[in-house]
Amino acid sequence: MRVGVLTGGGDCPGLNAVIRAVVRKAEKVHGDQVLGFRDGWKGVLEASTMPLDVAAMRGTLPRGGTVLGTSRTNPYKVDGGVERCLQTLYELGVDALIAIGGEDTLGVANKLFGEGVHVVGVPKTIDNDLSATDVTFGFDTAVQIATDAIDRLHTTAESHDRVMVCEVMGRHAGHIALHAGIAGGAAFILVPEEPFDIEEVCERLKARHAAGRYASIVVVAEGASPKEGTLALQDKGVDAFGHVRLGGIGNTLAEEIEARTGFETRVTILGHVQRGGTPTAYDRILSTRFGIAAIDAVHDGAFGHMVALRGTDVVRVPLSEAVGELKTIDRELYHHVAEVFFG
Ligand code: F6P
Repeated sequence: MRVGVLTGGGDCPGLNAVIRAVVRKAEKVHGDQVLGFRDGWKGVLEASTMPLDVAAMRGTLPRGGTVLGTSRTNPYKVDGGVERCLQTLYELGVDALIAIGGEDTLGVANKLFGEGVHVVGVPKTIDNDLSATDVTFGFDTAVQIATDAIDRLHTTAESHDRVMVCEVMGRHAGHIALHAGIAGGAAFILVPEEPFDIEEVCERLKARHAAGRYASIVVVAEGASPKEGTLALQDKGVDAFGHVRLGGIGNTLAEEIEARTGFETRVTILGHVQRGGTPTAYDRILSTRFGIAAIDAVHDGAFGHMVALRGTDVVRVPLSEAVGELKTIDRELYHHVAEVFFG
């Protein structure tokens, strides 16, 4: 069998581990030939490929990023894009395609499945906001990186008696903020799912400092939004999938906190540091399991499906289920655990 593999969307620790596992089982167990498409759907559009074999994947397990490259190219936004994709797959004799990506990449995979493409998905995103899987690979690494950063912010905040605002990724869902905030002992965690009241945040910070405690860490997800009309945020345009470009709420928040409380406040925007570098052991194992399950799904003819983690099991779910709705934070965890430590 000739199996194509691509990685799309933002990169994520664990992508190489998935590719490595696919290639290993495909070549050694199934006797397949694996073809890598460069830069996500762009590689399928432009027939840009690279051969993938066990030798080529040596040493990549702990490496961040993706050896295939990635992009946010959406063939459905390109004139004749879908036809070009179908033609490439036909001309290169690709019997099945494994698409590793988040909501956008898998959304395209799902539509192409409707066009007859034999595709299997693997859920990727540090944001952990994909439905139909308990966890996506990359999330554990991002949470660990953010937690390490918060630990470091604590000691400098204590030394200077400051408020530290730490902005983490998460456009529509605050999973990283919530988990890293709990693990790092944040005084406030602001997430997209729970619009915040800046006045309440400042009052509680004042009360916290008045009680003789100081050095507050406020963790904010990049997509967190203030309650209607309470705080103006910058508009940075949209990408090829129509997503609003975010980033910058940390700065606005820090300025407001300092102005309203009088406490010296600094901001750290973790940004792409959360996506770079080596995956944690947990993510390496999850990625490896997903890669093996994906090539097995191909050989079982389970097209139009995505591999997913449910409890401790790797299962198959329809792609349509995965891209239907974003998975938001566990409200119970936010209100009954995290919130106990606010202020
Ligand atoms: O991978 C998802 C994500 O990490 C979002 O949290 C973030 O908004 C986005 O990627 C930023 O990605 P880029 O700068 O690569 O467009």
